[in-house]
Amino acid sequence: MKGIILAGGSGTRLYPLTKAISKQIMPIYDKPMIYYPLSVLMLANIREILIISTKRDLPIFENLLGNGRDFGIKLEYKIQDKPNGLAEAFIVGEKFIKNDNVCLILGDNIFYGSGFSGLLEEVTSLKKGAVIFGYPVKDPRAYGVVEFDKNGKAISLEEKPENLKSNYAIPGLYFYDNTVISKAKTLKPSNRGELEITAINKKYLKESKLNVKKFGRGIAWLDTGTPEGLLEASNFVEVIQKRQGFYIACLEEIAYQKNWISKEHLLHKINELKNCDYKVYLKNLLN
Ligand code: DAU
Repeated sequence: MKGIILAGGSGTRLYPLTKAISKQIMPIYDKPMIYYPLSVLMLANIREILIISTKRDLPIFENLLGNGRDFGIKLEYKIQDKPNGLAEAFIVGEKFIKNDNVCLILGDNIFYGSGFSGLLEEVTSLKKGAVIFGYPVKDPRAYGVVEFDKNGKAISLEEKPENLKSNYAIPGLYFYDNTVISKAKTLKPSNRGELEITAINKKYLKESKLNVKKFGRGIAWLDTGTPEGLLEASNFVEVIQKRQGFYIACLEEIAYQKNWISKEHLLHKINELKNCDYKVYLKNLLN
């Protein structure tokens, strides 16, 4: 399975923070935001990943993450000319996806919690159809919303509905079979002028090939779309890291534990770093 991180858009709700730099490069406590969705793909054992962003911002991500070798993965980069919608990722990424299945994660979505890695590994074994998630939130009107029947089967999907049929929002993490490319190509722009991911999901639902898994209470899905959201996500990461002593989204740690990079490689990277907490943390991994 291939992975795509969509890290473009204009970040208008964060102005003036995003006037000169990308939203997905903003700090979430001690790491750039994109580290968090990238760690999710790595935890799902996805090692071929395309990062899509704007012409202005793409070089920053290349500078930050390079070809992925230091994390035992292969990274490619592609420009999305305009923020034409999430579903355009499959058109921009068509050559990269080739005949594979694909996981799309939004560059501003942060996930953390018990059992999350296991769940991801399970979902990547997907052969046909699509897997998306439902997450209960107090007010899901800013999101895609999924309605379930009495047996927990998804029966309707709506993008940013005024009148709610459920309080289950759809987080920005989607697993699709290869038909997603042809599905994306048939979409027309919505009223807000975007190729909607919800429209893709509706196509899978219509074909009875959409599996919507509910995230349990133990999983945190954090929104980083507003200044409060950014601060809350940073505070969340700080609290967990300080309390447990484990880092969230330490890419080198994930790669090392999965045996994707050698001890020598990690040591070499550590020696390149100037003194900082991140260096101390990485050093402790080797002991
Ligand atoms: O966060 C989950 C929600 O993401 C879902 O529940 C919704 O169904 C889905 O439509 C999306 O909602 P938003 O309207 O909040 O998406 P937004 O426009 O904020 O874009 C999400 C991220 O994707 C953001 O980091 C910018 C990036 N993006 C967005 C668009 C429209 C792109 O890179 N390219 C784009 O064309």
